[in-house]
Amino acid sequence: MVTRVSTVSFEGVEARAVEVQVQVAPGDVKFNVVGLPDKAVGESRERVRSAMISSGLSLPTKRITVNLAPADTPKEGSHYDLPIALGLMAALGAIPSDALDGFTVLGELALDGSITPVAGVLPAAIAAHGRGQGLICPRACGPEAAWASEEMAVIAPENLVQLANHFKGTQVLSRPEPAVALRGGALPDLAEIKGQENAKRALEIAAAGGHNLLMSGPPGAGKSMLAQRLPSILPALSPRELLEVSMVHSVAGLIEEGQLSDRRPFRAPHHSASTAALVGGGVTARPGEISLAHRGVLFLDELPEFQPQTLDSLRQPMETGEVMIARANARCTYPARFQLVAAMNPCRCGQATEPGFACRRGQNERCMAQYQARLSGPLLDRIDLTIEVPAVRAADLILPPPAEGSAEVARRVAAARAVQSGRYAALGLPASTTNAACPAAVLEQVAAPDAQGLALVRDASEAMKLSARGYHRVLRVARTLADLDGTSRVGRVHVAEALSYRSHLDRRRVAA
Ligand SMILES: Nc1ncnc2c1ncn2[C@@H]1O[C@H](COP(=O)(O)OP(=O)(O)OP(=O)(O)O)[C@@H](O)[C@H]1O
Ligand SMILES: [Mg+2]
Repeated sequence: MVTRVSTVSFEGVEARAVEVQVQVAPGDVKFNVVGLPDKAVGESRERVRSAMISSGLSLPTKRITVNLAPADTPKEGSHYDLPIALGLMAALGAIPSDALDGFTVLGELALDGSITPVAGVLPAAIAAHGRGQGLICPRACGPEAAWASEEMAVIAPENLVQLANHFKGTQVLSRPEPAVALRGGALPDLAEIKGQENAKRALEIAAAGGHNLLMSGPPGAGKSMLAQRLPSILPALSPRELLEVSMVHSVAGLIEEGQLSDRRPFRAPHHSASTAALVGGGVTARPGEISLAHRGVLFLDELPEFQPQTLDSLRQPMETGEVMIARANARCTYPARFQLVAAMNPCRCGQATEPGFACRRGQNERCMAQYQARLSGPLLDRIDLTIEVPAVRAADLILPPPAEGSAEVARRVAAARAVQSGRYAALGLPASTTNAACPAAVLEQVAAPDAQGLALVRDASEAMKLSARGYHRVLRVARTLADLDGTSRVGRVHVAEALSYRSHLDRRRVAA
Protein backbone atom coordinates (compact mmCIF):
# COMPACT_ATOMS: atom_id res chain seq x y z
CA MET A 1 0.00 0.00 0.00
CA VAL A 2 1.13 3.54 -0.71
CA THR A 3 0.42 6.42 1.67
CA ARG A 4 0.35 9.93 0.26
CA VAL A 5 1.14 13.20 2.03
CA SER A 6 0.89 16.69 0.49
CA THR A 7 3.79 19.07 0.81
CA VAL A 8 5.34 21.84 -1.31
CA SER A 9 8.45 22.82 -3.21
CA PHE A 10 9.39 26.48 -3.67
CA GLU A 11 9.84 28.34 -6.88
CA GLY A 12 10.60 31.91 -5.86
CA VAL A 13 7.83 32.84 -3.43
CA GLU A 14 5.45 30.37 -4.99
CA ALA A 15 4.79 27.07 -3.28
CA ARG A 16 4.15 24.26 -5.77
CA ALA A 17 2.27 21.14 -4.68
CA VAL A 18 4.45 18.06 -4.16
CA GLU A 19 3.16 14.66 -3.14
CA VAL A 20 5.23 12.45 -0.87
CA GLN A 21 4.43 8.80 -1.63
CA VAL A 22 5.60 6.22 0.90
CA GLN A 23 5.60 2.50 0.32
CA VAL A 24 6.60 -0.15 2.84
CA ALA A 25 7.00 -3.47 1.04
CA PRO A 26 8.68 -6.80 1.62
CA GLY A 27 12.19 -7.06 0.23
CA ASP A 28 15.74 -6.00 1.15
CA VAL A 29 15.97 -3.74 4.18
CA LYS A 30 16.45 -0.38 2.51
CA PHE A 31 15.28 3.22 2.81
CA ASN A 32 15.35 5.04 -0.52
CA VAL A 33 14.26 8.59 -1.40
CA VAL A 34 13.71 9.24 -5.11
CA GLY A 35 12.30 12.21 -7.10
CA LEU A 36 15.28 14.56 -7.62
CA PRO A 37 16.16 15.15 -3.96
CA ASP A 38 19.09 17.47 -3.23
CA LYS A 39 21.63 16.64 -0.52
CA ALA A 40 19.51 17.97 2.36
CA VAL A 41 16.48 15.96 1.20
CA GLY A 42 18.57 12.81 0.68
CA GLU A 43 19.90 13.11 4.21
CA SER A 44 16.39 13.32 5.61
CA ARG A 45 16.39 9.48 5.74
CA GLU A 46 18.81 9.58 8.66
CA ARG A 47 16.89 12.30 10.51
CA VAL A 48 13.56 10.53 9.97
CA ARG A 49 14.95 7.21 11.16
CA SER A 50 16.48 8.69 14.32
CA ALA A 51 13.48 10.90 15.09
CA MET A 52 11.11 7.95 14.83
CA ILE A 53 13.30 5.76 17.04
CA SER A 54 13.48 8.60 19.63
CA SER A 55 9.68 8.80 19.51
CA GLY A 56 9.36 5.11 20.31
CA LEU A 57 8.72 3.86 16.77
CA SER A 58 11.15 1.50 15.11
CA LEU A 59 11.30 1.19 11.36
CA PRO A 60 10.18 -2.18 9.99
CA THR A 61 12.81 -4.50 8.52
CA LYS A 62 11.34 -4.02 5.06
CA ARG A 63 12.02 -2.06 1.94
CA ILE A 64 10.90 1.58 2.31
CA THR A 65 10.59 3.69 -0.83
CA VAL A 66 9.77 7.40 -0.75
CA ASN A 67 8.93 9.15 -4.01
CA LEU A 68 8.60 12.93 -4.27
CA ALA A 69 6.18 13.57 -7.14
CA PRO A 70 6.35 15.19 -9.67
CA ALA A 71 9.65 13.36 -9.99
CA ASP A 72 11.22 15.74 -12.52
CA THR A 73 11.31 18.99 -10.51
CA PRO A 74 14.26 19.45 -8.14
CA LYS A 75 13.46 19.24 -4.41
CA GLU A 76 15.51 21.41 -2.09
CA GLY A 77 15.57 22.04 1.62
CA SER A 78 14.97 20.21 4.85
CA HIS A 79 11.19 20.63 5.08
CA TYR A 80 10.50 17.19 3.56
CA ASP A 81 11.49 15.42 6.83
CA LEU A 82 8.08 15.81 8.44
CA PRO A 83 5.92 14.72 5.48
CA ILE A 84 8.18 11.69 4.98
CA ALA A 85 8.00 10.76 8.67
CA LEU A 86 4.21 11.22 8.78
CA GLY A 87 3.77 9.15 5.62
CA LEU A 88 5.77 6.37 7.26
CA MET A 89 3.84 6.67 10.52
CA ALA A 90 0.57 6.39 8.59
CA ALA A 91 1.91 3.38 6.66
CA LEU A 92 2.89 1.71 9.97
CA GLY A 93 -0.43 2.51 11.63
CA ALA A 94 1.07 4.87 14.24
CA ILE A 95 -1.45 7.52 13.16
CA PRO A 96 -4.83 6.95 11.47
CA SER A 97 -4.40 6.47 7.72
CA ASP A 98 -6.89 9.25 6.89
CA ALA A 99 -5.50 11.74 9.44
CA LEU A 100 -3.36 13.53 6.89
CA ASP A 101 -6.10 13.95 4.28
CA GLY A 102 -6.70 17.64 3.68
CA PHE A 103 -3.36 18.80 5.11
CA THR A 104 -0.18 20.18 3.59
CA VAL A 105 2.79 19.23 5.73
CA LEU A 106 6.25 20.78 6.12
CA GLY A 107 8.89 20.72 8.84
CA GLU A 108 12.38 19.58 9.70
CA LEU A 109 13.11 16.87 12.27
CA ALA A 110 15.80 16.81 14.91
CA LEU A 111 17.23 13.46 15.97
CA ASP A 112 15.21 13.54 19.22
CA GLY A 113 11.90 13.73 17.36
CA SER A 114 11.30 17.46 17.81
CA ILE A 115 10.10 19.46 14.82
CA THR A 116 12.34 22.42 14.03
CA PRO A 117 11.46 25.62 12.10
CA VAL A 118 11.81 25.81 8.32
CA ALA A 119 11.72 28.58 5.73
CA GLY A 120 8.70 29.26 3.54
CA VAL A 121 5.83 28.47 5.93
CA LEU A 122 3.79 31.54 4.93
CA PRO A 123 3.75 30.85 1.17
CA ALA A 124 3.11 27.17 1.92
CA ALA A 125 0.14 28.11 4.13
CA ILE A 126 -1.28 30.45 1.49
CA ALA A 127 -0.91 27.76 -1.20
CA ALA A 128 -2.50 25.14 1.07
CA HIS A 129 -5.43 27.47 1.77
CA GLY A 130 -5.80 28.01 -1.99
CA ARG A 131 -6.20 24.26 -2.40
CA GLY A 132 -8.69 24.10 0.47
CA GLN A 133 -6.24 22.30 2.76
CA GLY A 134 -4.99 22.88 6.30
CA LEU A 135 -1.33 23.04 7.33
CA ILE A 136 0.88 21.02 9.67
CA CYS A 137 4.08 22.94 10.46
CA PRO A 138 6.64 23.36 13.28
CA ARG A 139 5.44 24.94 16.54
CA ALA A 140 7.65 28.03 16.08
CA CYS A 141 6.19 28.71 12.61
CA GLY A 142 2.53 28.37 13.71
CA PRO A 143 1.89 32.12 14.20
CA GLU A 144 3.30 32.75 10.70
CA ALA A 145 1.04 30.10 9.12
CA ALA A 146 -2.02 31.47 10.91
CA TRP A 147 -1.72 34.66 8.80
CA ALA A 148 -2.83 32.82 5.66
CA SER A 149 -6.49 32.67 6.67
CA GLU A 150 -8.65 32.73 9.77
CA GLU A 151 -10.71 29.71 8.80
CA MET A 152 -7.90 27.41 7.83
CA ALA A 153 -6.84 24.56 10.15
CA VAL A 154 -3.27 24.94 11.40
CA ILE A 155 -1.60 22.27 13.54
CA ALA A 156 1.77 23.31 14.96
CA PRO A 157 3.20 20.51 17.13
CA GLU A 158 6.49 20.60 19.00
CA ASN A 159 7.41 17.00 18.27
CA LEU A 160 6.21 13.81 16.62
CA VAL A 161 4.71 12.37 19.81
CA GLN A 162 2.54 15.47 20.34
CA LEU A 163 1.25 15.21 16.78
CA ALA A 164 0.47 11.48 17.13
CA ASN A 165 -1.41 12.21 20.38
CA HIS A 166 -3.32 15.02 18.65
CA PHE A 167 -4.52 12.61 15.97
CA LYS A 168 -5.45 10.01 18.58
CA GLY A 169 -7.38 12.69 20.47
CA THR A 170 -5.42 12.35 23.73
CA GLN A 171 -3.77 15.79 23.52
CA VAL A 172 -5.52 18.25 21.23
CA LEU A 173 -3.35 21.12 19.98
CA SER A 174 -5.00 24.53 19.74
CA ARG A 175 -4.73 26.67 16.63
CA PRO A 176 -1.88 29.22 16.83
CA GLU A 177 -2.73 32.94 16.68
CA PRO A 178 -1.24 35.22 14.01
CA ALA A 179 1.50 37.34 15.59
CA VAL A 180 2.96 40.74 14.70
CA ALA A 181 6.41 41.57 16.04
CA LEU A 182 6.21 44.37 18.55
CA ARG A 183 8.03 47.40 17.27
CA GLY A 184 10.94 46.43 19.45
CA GLY A 185 13.47 49.13 20.23
CA ALA A 186 13.23 52.75 19.15
CA LEU A 187 14.67 53.64 15.75
CA PRO A 188 17.41 56.29 15.52
CA ASP A 189 15.75 59.72 15.35
CA LEU A 190 16.24 62.62 12.94
CA ALA A 191 16.48 65.00 15.89
CA GLU A 192 19.99 63.68 16.55
CA ILE A 193 21.22 65.32 13.34
CA LYS A 194 22.27 68.93 13.70
CA GLY A 195 22.13 71.31 10.76
CA GLN A 196 21.87 69.59 7.34
CA GLU A 197 18.42 71.07 6.73
CA ASN A 198 18.67 70.53 2.96
CA ALA A 199 19.54 66.88 3.38
CA LYS A 200 16.69 66.37 5.82
CA ARG A 201 14.28 67.99 3.39
CA ALA A 202 15.49 65.65 0.61
CA LEU A 203 15.10 62.68 2.95
CA GLU A 204 11.51 63.73 3.68
CA ILE A 205 10.72 64.05 -0.05
CA ALA A 206 12.32 60.67 -0.75
CA ALA A 207 10.24 59.08 2.00
CA ALA A 208 7.04 60.78 0.87
CA GLY A 209 7.25 59.77 -2.79
CA GLY A 210 9.35 56.59 -2.53
CA HIS A 211 12.08 58.27 -4.61
CA ASN A 212 15.64 57.03 -5.06
CA LEU A 213 18.17 59.28 -3.35
CA LEU A 214 21.90 59.78 -3.73
CA MET A 215 23.89 61.75 -1.17
CA SER A 216 27.37 62.94 -1.95
CA GLY A 217 29.66 64.64 0.51
CA PRO A 218 32.94 64.63 2.44
CA PRO A 219 33.65 62.01 5.14
CA GLY A 220 31.93 62.58 8.44
CA ALA A 221 29.23 64.85 7.01
CA GLY A 222 26.53 62.55 8.34
CA LYS A 223 25.41 60.75 5.17
CA SER A 224 25.27 57.30 6.71
CA MET A 225 23.65 58.83 9.76
CA LEU A 226 20.91 60.42 7.61
CA ALA A 227 20.17 57.22 5.69
CA GLN A 228 19.86 55.20 8.88
CA ARG A 229 17.14 57.59 10.03
CA LEU A 230 14.97 57.04 6.97
CA PRO A 231 13.08 54.05 8.48
CA SER A 232 11.91 56.29 11.34
CA ILE A 233 9.97 58.55 8.95
CA LEU A 234 8.55 55.89 6.62
CA PRO A 235 4.95 54.78 7.16
CA ALA A 236 4.23 51.23 8.37
CA LEU A 237 3.46 48.53 5.78
CA SER A 238 -0.18 48.19 4.76
CA PRO A 239 -1.69 44.72 5.42
CA ARG A 240 -1.31 43.82 1.73
CA GLU A 241 2.32 44.96 1.65
CA LEU A 242 2.98 43.17 4.93
CA LEU A 243 2.03 39.85 3.35
CA GLU A 244 4.03 40.57 0.17
CA VAL A 245 7.17 41.42 2.14
CA SER A 246 6.74 38.55 4.57
CA MET A 247 6.45 36.02 1.74
CA VAL A 248 9.97 36.91 0.57
CA HIS A 249 11.34 37.01 4.11
CA SER A 250 9.67 33.67 4.85
CA VAL A 251 11.30 31.99 1.85
CA ALA A 252 14.64 33.45 2.96
CA GLY A 253 14.09 32.07 6.47
CA LEU A 254 14.25 35.51 8.06
CA ILE A 255 11.00 35.46 10.05
CA GLU A 256 11.87 35.08 13.70
CA GLU A 257 9.53 33.10 15.93
CA GLY A 258 6.77 33.26 13.33
CA GLN A 259 6.20 36.97 13.94
CA LEU A 260 5.66 39.20 10.93
CA SER A 261 6.74 42.83 11.21
CA ASP A 262 4.97 45.87 9.78
CA ARG A 263 8.21 47.86 9.70
CA ARG A 264 9.52 48.57 6.23
CA PRO A 265 12.65 46.54 5.48
CA PHE A 266 15.96 48.43 5.56
CA ARG A 267 18.79 46.48 3.98
CA ALA A 268 22.33 47.81 3.96
CA PRO A 269 24.65 45.28 2.26
CA HIS A 270 28.39 45.91 2.45
CA HIS A 271 30.07 47.11 -0.74
CA SER A 272 31.92 43.82 -1.12
CA ALA A 273 28.55 42.12 -1.88
CA SER A 274 28.50 39.90 -4.96
CA THR A 275 25.95 40.23 -7.73
CA ALA A 276 24.20 37.05 -6.55
CA ALA A 277 23.99 38.40 -3.00
CA LEU A 278 22.49 41.63 -4.24
CA VAL A 279 20.02 40.51 -6.92
CA GLY A 280 19.52 36.90 -5.82
CA GLY A 281 20.63 33.55 -7.14
CA GLY A 282 23.40 31.19 -6.19
CA VAL A 283 22.95 27.45 -5.97
CA THR A 284 19.53 27.58 -4.34
CA ALA A 285 18.17 30.71 -6.13
CA ARG A 286 17.70 32.55 -2.86
CA PRO A 287 16.23 36.05 -2.85
CA GLY A 288 18.89 38.76 -2.92
CA GLU A 289 19.13 42.00 -0.95
CA ILE A 290 16.97 43.84 -3.50
CA SER A 291 14.11 41.40 -2.90
CA LEU A 292 14.60 41.46 0.86
CA ALA A 293 14.29 45.25 0.55
CA HIS A 294 10.96 44.92 -1.33
CA ARG A 295 8.60 47.75 -0.26
CA GLY A 296 11.43 49.15 1.84
CA VAL A 297 14.86 50.70 1.51
CA LEU A 298 18.06 49.37 -0.05
CA PHE A 299 20.91 51.46 1.33
CA LEU A 300 24.18 51.26 -0.58
CA ASP A 301 26.81 53.09 1.42
CA GLU A 302 30.03 54.06 -0.40
CA LEU A 303 28.30 53.50 -3.76
CA PRO A 304 31.36 53.73 -6.09
CA GLU A 305 33.11 51.01 -4.05
CA PHE A 306 30.59 48.41 -5.29
CA GLN A 307 31.59 46.41 -8.36
CA PRO A 308 30.36 48.34 -11.43
CA GLN A 309 28.74 45.20 -12.93
CA THR A 310 26.98 44.52 -9.64
CA LEU A 311 25.54 48.03 -9.64
CA ASP A 312 24.43 47.76 -13.24
CA SER A 313 22.58 44.55 -12.46
CA LEU A 314 20.21 46.75 -10.44
CA ARG A 315 19.09 48.66 -13.50
CA GLN A 316 16.51 46.24 -14.80
CA PRO A 317 14.87 45.41 -11.44
CA MET A 318 14.68 49.13 -10.62
CA GLU A 319 12.59 49.61 -13.73
CA THR A 320 10.31 46.57 -13.46
CA GLY A 321 10.04 46.10 -9.69
CA GLU A 322 10.89 42.41 -9.93
CA VAL A 323 13.85 40.22 -10.74
CA MET A 324 13.92 36.96 -12.66
CA ILE A 325 16.61 34.51 -11.67
CA ALA A 326 17.34 31.80 -14.20
CA ARG A 327 19.41 28.76 -13.37
CA ALA A 328 20.25 25.63 -15.29
CA ASN A 329 17.27 23.71 -13.91
CA ALA A 330 14.83 26.32 -12.69
CA ARG A 331 13.81 29.92 -12.97
CA CYS A 332 11.92 32.04 -10.54
CA THR A 333 10.78 35.60 -10.07
CA TYR A 334 11.06 37.59 -6.87
CA PRO A 335 9.46 40.99 -6.25
CA ALA A 336 11.99 43.82 -5.91
CA ARG A 337 10.23 47.18 -5.66
CA PHE A 338 12.73 48.89 -3.41
CA GLN A 339 13.76 52.46 -2.78
CA LEU A 340 17.46 52.98 -3.43
CA VAL A 341 19.31 55.26 -1.06
CA ALA A 342 23.01 55.65 -1.74
CA ALA A 343 25.85 57.61 -0.19
CA MET A 344 29.26 58.44 -1.61
CA ASN A 345 32.24 60.74 -1.28
CA PRO A 346 32.82 63.06 -4.23
CA CYS A 347 36.29 61.58 -4.87
CA ARG A 348 38.67 59.00 -3.45
CA CYS A 349 40.31 61.57 -1.14
CA GLY A 350 36.79 62.42 -0.08
CA GLN A 351 37.06 66.18 0.10
CA ALA A 352 37.23 67.45 -3.47
CA THR A 353 34.19 69.68 -3.00
CA GLU A 354 35.50 71.27 0.20
CA PRO A 355 36.68 74.84 -0.36
CA GLY A 356 40.46 75.09 -0.30
CA PHE A 357 41.13 71.36 -0.47
CA ALA A 358 43.59 70.09 -3.07
CA CYS A 359 43.34 66.40 -4.00
CA ARG A 360 46.52 64.38 -3.67
CA ARG A 361 45.97 62.66 -7.00
CA GLY A 362 46.11 65.72 -9.23
CA GLN A 363 43.39 68.22 -9.99
CA ASN A 364 40.20 67.99 -7.95
CA GLU A 365 38.09 67.67 -11.12
CA ARG A 366 40.16 64.76 -12.38
CA CYS A 367 40.09 63.01 -9.02
CA MET A 368 36.30 63.36 -8.92
CA ALA A 369 35.81 62.27 -12.53
CA GLN A 370 37.92 59.14 -11.95
CA TYR A 371 36.00 58.13 -8.87
CA GLN A 372 32.58 58.90 -10.30
CA ALA A 373 33.32 57.06 -13.55
CA ARG A 374 32.63 53.88 -11.60
CA LEU A 375 28.94 54.80 -11.64
CA SER A 376 27.20 54.28 -14.96
CA GLY A 377 25.06 57.01 -16.48
CA PRO A 378 21.94 54.80 -16.75
CA LEU A 379 22.14 54.01 -13.03
CA LEU A 380 22.38 57.70 -12.14
CA ASP A 381 19.50 58.38 -14.53
CA ARG A 382 17.28 56.26 -12.26
CA ILE A 383 17.99 58.38 -9.21
CA ASP A 384 15.30 61.01 -8.68
CA LEU A 385 17.03 63.06 -6.02
CA THR A 386 20.74 63.85 -5.87
CA ILE A 387 22.02 66.09 -3.13
CA GLU A 388 25.29 67.34 -1.79
CA VAL A 389 25.78 66.96 1.93
CA PRO A 390 28.42 69.50 2.99
CA ALA A 391 30.49 69.02 6.12
CA VAL A 392 28.83 70.32 9.28
CA ARG A 393 30.60 73.20 10.93
CA ALA A 394 31.55 73.02 14.59
CA ALA A 395 29.22 75.98 15.20
CA ASP A 396 26.27 73.82 14.08
CA LEU A 397 27.24 70.99 16.40
CA ILE A 398 27.29 73.26 19.43
CA LEU A 399 23.70 74.33 18.79
CA PRO A 400 20.91 72.63 20.78
CA PRO A 401 19.25 69.70 18.93
CA PRO A 402 16.53 70.68 16.42
CA ALA A 403 12.99 70.87 17.79
CA GLU A 404 11.61 68.73 15.01
CA GLY A 405 12.20 64.99 15.23
CA SER A 406 11.19 61.95 13.21
CA ALA A 407 7.63 61.87 14.57
CA GLU A 408 6.66 65.23 13.04
CA VAL A 409 8.29 64.43 9.69
CA ALA A 410 6.68 60.98 9.66
CA ARG A 411 3.25 62.62 10.03
CA ARG A 412 3.79 64.78 6.94
CA VAL A 413 5.14 61.80 5.01
CA ALA A 414 2.12 59.68 5.98
CA ALA A 415 -0.27 62.44 4.87
CA ALA A 416 1.47 62.75 1.49
CA ARG A 417 1.46 58.98 1.04
CA ALA A 418 -2.25 58.80 1.83
CA VAL A 419 -2.94 61.37 -0.92
CA GLN A 420 -0.89 59.31 -3.39
CA SER A 421 -2.41 55.92 -2.64
CA GLY A 422 -5.90 57.51 -2.78
CA ARG A 423 -5.13 59.03 -6.16
CA TYR A 424 -3.76 55.85 -7.72
CA ALA A 425 -6.52 53.69 -6.26
CA ALA A 426 -9.09 56.06 -7.82
CA LEU A 427 -7.33 55.65 -11.17
CA GLY A 428 -7.55 51.87 -10.88
CA LEU A 429 -3.82 51.41 -10.12
CA PRO A 430 -3.79 49.88 -6.63
CA ALA A 431 -0.28 48.46 -7.27
CA SER A 432 1.26 51.95 -7.53
CA THR A 433 1.09 53.45 -4.09
CA THR A 434 3.75 56.13 -4.54
CA ASN A 435 4.66 58.69 -7.17
CA ALA A 436 7.92 56.82 -7.78
CA ALA A 437 5.99 53.70 -8.83
CA CYS A 438 3.49 55.57 -11.04
CA PRO A 439 3.63 54.51 -14.71
CA ALA A 440 4.97 57.23 -17.02
CA ALA A 441 1.77 57.47 -19.07
CA VAL A 442 -0.34 58.18 -16.00
CA LEU A 443 2.29 60.53 -14.63
CA GLU A 444 1.87 63.02 -17.46
CA GLN A 445 -1.79 63.20 -16.59
CA VAL A 446 -1.57 63.46 -12.79
CA ALA A 447 1.58 65.59 -12.57
CA ALA A 448 0.94 68.03 -15.40
CA PRO A 449 2.28 71.39 -14.15
CA ASP A 450 0.35 74.65 -14.54
CA ALA A 451 1.29 77.06 -17.36
CA GLN A 452 4.22 78.66 -15.52
CA GLY A 453 5.53 75.33 -14.32
CA LEU A 454 5.27 73.94 -17.84
CA ALA A 455 7.27 76.85 -19.27
CA LEU A 456 9.99 76.27 -16.68
CA VAL A 457 10.21 72.53 -17.27
CA ARG A 458 10.34 73.09 -21.05
CA ASP A 459 13.21 75.58 -20.79
CA ALA A 460 15.08 73.47 -18.26
CA SER A 461 14.85 70.26 -20.25
CA GLU A 462 16.41 72.08 -23.22
CA ALA A 463 19.16 73.67 -21.15
CA MET A 464 19.92 70.59 -19.02
CA LYS A 465 19.50 68.10 -21.88
CA LEU A 466 17.12 65.97 -19.87
CA SER A 467 16.48 62.43 -21.09
CA ALA A 468 12.87 61.25 -21.38
CA ARG A 469 13.31 59.48 -18.06
CA GLY A 470 14.93 62.59 -16.62
CA TYR A 471 11.91 64.64 -17.66
CA HIS A 472 9.50 62.21 -16.02
CA ARG A 473 11.73 62.15 -12.96
CA VAL A 474 11.35 65.90 -12.55
CA LEU A 475 7.55 65.56 -12.88
CA ARG A 476 7.51 62.75 -10.32
CA VAL A 477 9.42 64.74 -7.72
CA ALA A 478 7.35 67.86 -8.45
CA ARG A 479 4.18 65.80 -7.88
CA THR A 480 5.52 64.64 -4.51
CA LEU A 481 6.39 68.22 -3.54
CA ALA A 482 2.83 69.29 -4.38
CA ASP A 483 1.47 66.35 -2.36
CA LEU A 484 3.60 67.41 0.63
CA ASP A 485 2.12 70.91 0.24
CA GLY A 486 -1.35 69.41 0.10
CA THR A 487 -2.24 70.93 -3.28
CA SER A 488 -3.52 69.09 -6.33
CA ARG A 489 -1.84 71.57 -8.72
CA VAL A 490 1.85 71.22 -9.58
CA GLY A 491 3.16 74.78 -9.70
CA ARG A 492 6.32 76.55 -10.71
CA VAL A 493 7.83 76.34 -7.20
CA HIS A 494 7.43 72.58 -7.20
CA VAL A 495 9.04 72.22 -10.62
CA ALA A 496 11.89 74.55 -9.61
CA GLU A 497 12.65 72.59 -6.46
CA ALA A 498 12.42 69.28 -8.33
CA LEU A 499 14.94 70.56 -10.90
CA SER A 500 17.35 71.50 -8.13
CA TYR A 501 17.61 67.81 -7.14
CA ARG A 502 18.81 66.81 -10.58
CA SER A 503 22.06 64.93 -10.62
CA HIS A 504 25.01 67.18 -9.77
CA LEU A 505 27.21 64.33 -10.90
CA ASP A 506 25.72 64.41 -14.40
CA ARG A 507 26.19 68.11 -14.63
CA ARG A 508 29.80 67.92 -13.58
CA ARG A 509 30.48 65.21 -16.06
CA VAL A 510 29.14 67.41 -18.85
CA ALA A 511 31.36 70.26 -17.65
CA ALA A 512 34.50 68.13 -17.28
N1 LIG B 1 24.89 66.72 11.38
C1 LIG B 1 25.42 66.04 12.37
N2 LIG B 1 24.93 66.14 13.61
C2 LIG B 1 25.46 65.42 14.62
N3 LIG B 1 26.49 64.56 14.48
C3 LIG B 1 27.03 64.41 13.29
C4 LIG B 1 26.51 65.12 12.17
N4 LIG B 1 27.23 64.77 11.09
C5 LIG B 1 28.13 63.87 11.49
N5 LIG B 1 28.02 63.64 12.81
C6 LIG B 1 28.88 62.75 13.59
O1 LIG B 1 29.85 62.23 12.71
C7 LIG B 1 29.82 60.82 12.67
C8 LIG B 1 30.07 60.33 11.27
O2 LIG B 1 28.95 60.51 10.46
P1 LIG B 1 28.63 59.53 9.25
O3 LIG B 1 29.19 58.20 9.49
O4 LIG B 1 27.18 59.60 8.98
O5 LIG B 1 29.45 60.25 8.10
P2 LIG B 1 29.49 59.93 6.57
O6 LIG B 1 29.06 61.16 5.88
O7 LIG B 1 28.73 58.70 6.29
O8 LIG B 1 31.02 59.72 6.33
P3 LIG B 1 31.80 58.73 5.33
O9 LIG B 1 31.77 59.40 3.98
O10 LIG B 1 33.18 58.67 5.85
O11 LIG B 1 31.10 57.44 5.35
C9 LIG B 1 28.47 60.45 13.21
O12 LIG B 1 28.50 59.22 13.85
C10 LIG B 1 28.16 61.58 14.17
O13 LIG B 1 28.71 61.29 15.43
MG1 LIG C 1 29.28 56.78 5.73
